[in-house]
Amino acid sequence: MLSRRNKMGNKIEPCLIIIFGATGDLTNRKLLPAFYKLEFENLLHKDSKIIAFARKEKSNEQFRKEALKAINTFSKFKVDNKVWKKLENKIFYHQSEFQDIKGFNRLKELIKKICTKTTSCNKVFYLSAPPGFFGPIISNLKKSGLTASSGWSRVVFEKPFGHDLKSAKKLNESIKKVFKEKQIYRIDHYVGKELVQNLLVLRFANSIFEPIWNKKYIDHVQITVAEDIGVETRGNYYEKSGALRDIIQNHMLQLVALTAMEPPVTLDAEDIREEKVKVLRSIRPLTTKDIGKMTVRGQYGSGVVNDKKVKAYHDEDKVSKKSNTETFAALKLNIDNSRWSDVPFYLRTGKRLKERVAEITIVFKQNSGILFNEHVKNIEPNMLIVRIQPEEGISLQFSAKVPGKKMIIDNVRMDFCHECKFGPNTPDAYERLLYDIMIGDQTLFTSWEMVEHSWKIVDKIAKAWKKGKVASYAAGSWGPKNADALIEKDKRKWYAPQKTIYSTFLQNNGNKIQ
Ligand SMILES: NC(=O)c1ccc[n+]([C@@H]2O[C@H](COP(=O)([O-])OP(=O)(O)OC[C@H]3O[C@@H](n4cnc5c(N)ncnc54)[C@H](OP(=O)(O)O)[C@@H]3O)[C@@H](O)[C@H]2O)c1
Repeated sequence: MLSRRNKMGNKIEPCLIIIFGATGDLTNRKLLPAFYKLEFENLLHKDSKIIAFARKEKSNEQFRKEALKAINTFSKFKVDNKVWKKLENKIFYHQSEFQDIKGFNRLKELIKKICTKTTSCNKVFYLSAPPGFFGPIISNLKKSGLTASSGWSRVVFEKPFGHDLKSAKKLNESIKKVFKEKQIYRIDHYVGKELVQNLLVLRFANSIFEPIWNKKYIDHVQITVAEDIGVETRGNYYEKSGALRDIIQNHMLQLVALTAMEPPVTLDAEDIREEKVKVLRSIRPLTTKDIGKMTVRGQYGSGVVNDKKVKAYHDEDKVSKKSNTETFAALKLNIDNSRWSDVPFYLRTGKRLKERVAEITIVFKQNSGILFNEHVKNIEPNMLIVRIQPEEGISLQFSAKVPGKKMIIDNVRMDFCHECKFGPNTPDAYERLLYDIMIGDQTLFTSWEMVEHSWKIVDKIAKAWKKGKVASYAAGSWGPKNADALIEKDKRKWYAPQKTIYSTFLQNNGNKIQ
């Protein structure tokens, strides 16, 4: 449950949220359901308004109708008419091209009309637009004088922030001419996920974990972000991006940083962001030779996923038949600091894998005690598994005696099921992120330093991967064979995600929440 005050005690203030790209997929699937939930929770200030900016001609009424349809389709909550009526009256539609300064001048006029003394004209400019338009939108915001008008202004960028370090720097410099870092919110929605936020609590609020969270006790860390879906309608975008830029540069390096960071001085945004950047700076730079040995890429061929036959990546819509884009990436990273030296972090992500799952597995060193040596053949090491999706939770794996007269030891898990304990009302990542933008808390947003260092890591790999050909893997598998070799040559293995005891509980509760 979110509250009407941030951790500094500031109250939520009224503001105008201008969504650039308001008829797009992201607005429909994520932003509108999140606004509905915030309204439901009474966390959208009564004087706040939403201005939907997009290219097609339509009236306020038409947009509101479409917005309701999107909320009905994508929200996990059954729409309450009273709540919708309150939200509906806050939504306005504004038609314009992103490149058209006249449209921005008209937007300024509309804002003048809408914002009364109570809203104080505070503004959130939310760029849910194709990234190629970030520059023109920022430039038109400045030209029209919208950024200089009364009230505070904040600007929100969806990922990707640049295509490489050079383009990210160029974009950042153009933004910096108009906004200060304090006003810039770069979204990585993964960081808004409840279990990702829980990582800091798990590590720093529990006396049992922090003392063993280091090279003395941890053997290695593995992070998996697997999707069972293919590229769907996003072939155009994905051809230029690939798994490395789409997932590793942002979500996965964020997960590495949160898993590996030192305790921050305070819970303030700056202190947390500073510690996260230090982790990226401590990642050992990969040489061209390392990239050959420590990275793997693959592209899905045809196969069977969830009992359905699916086509190969190069047969997907808007994808080149000769595409060399990776839909799978795996890497081994070393963090050269006193906590993590000699503890490798193995990362893997891909599309059309066996199942949809995101989890961080902390694998502890195996007990060298000789007492049970003759019984430990199939015993896995102790593991702490943070399940980010789909069934949020944390599991601790350890060894236990199988009942009976013989001494047989098996692997068992203690599971914490987030939804079983806290119910289904956990805020969606976007709900949390929108709320934080409105209260001015940048903790969960990516700082420029983080963007810069993550591109430095990724650019080197991307450059080396330009040469050579991507390996193929069967859709429905766990990726190419050499991803197994990457970890097996260190005498380790990937641990396949396991069904937890609460899977059935959650499956039975998949209906809309009243
Ligand atoms: N979709 C996702 O799941 C997802 C996930 C993570 C990040 N993102 C990021 O979120 C952003 C939006 O993605 P999306 O999938 O929502 O894109 P989308 O479905 O292609 O929607 C694009 C939006 O921009 C508008 N638009 C395009 N060109 C325009 C122009 N010249 N002038 C005015 N409006 C224009 C479109 O309006 P019309 O409909 O009127 O043409 C539409 O509202 C992108 O930066 C993307 O990388 C998306």
